[in-house]
Amino acid sequence: MDDNVGRVIVGEDELRAKIAELAAQITADYAGRPPILVGVLKGAFMFMADLARAIALPVEFDFMAVSSYGSATRSSGIVRILKDLEIDLTDRDVLVVEDIVDSGLTLAYLQRNLAARAPRSVEVCALIVKEGLQRTELDLKYVGFTIPPVFVVGYGLDVGERYRNLPGLFEYVGPGA
Ligand code: IMP
Ligand code: MG
Repeated sequence: MDDNVGRVIVGEDELRAKIAELAAQITADYAGRPPILVGVLKGAFMFMADLARAIALPVEFDFMAVSSYGSATRSSGIVRILKDLEIDLTDRDVLVVEDIVDSGLTLAYLQRNLAARAPRSVEVCALIVKEGLQRTELDLKYVGFTIPPVFVVGYGLDVGERYRNLPGLFEYVGPGA
């Protein structure tokens, strides 16, 4: 790729296998009550697409875009909604699909925000959780991988909007890392 992209953190084959596992679990857990999948843009778009295709239930889709103020590689916890949902969540089972949980501040905000819309349930499926950095207690029902606290790019994740289309997850070793 280029010199800013370092070692593989999670490869394509590992991603595929884990997503099949997560989807099978979700399919079993939500039998008879298909959830609305709420994807958190932009980072989760690729995970959402692959996960959804592996879930054998008539799920619905919606998306939110949020930005947490901060530097390119650190989140501040002050979250702004850039795009809100279109589907009414009242009495619905909601499954939030997140790319990565670092400090956990973005997700803590989202969970509070969604819970206020009177859904029947809200659970979270996060592809990646970084070890040891969560500043708030989070209730994550489905987690793909736990990784060391390095900055990663690829499979939807960016630095300054770059590298999202890499097919696996790689350590970012460039400026600002
Ligand atoms: P948190 O609020 O610190 O948990 O940060 C969560 C958000 O920051 C994620 O949804 C990502 O958009 C972004 N983020 C956190 N860590 C990384 C990373 O290693 N690579 C790319 N984006 C990240
Ligand atoms: Mg980002």
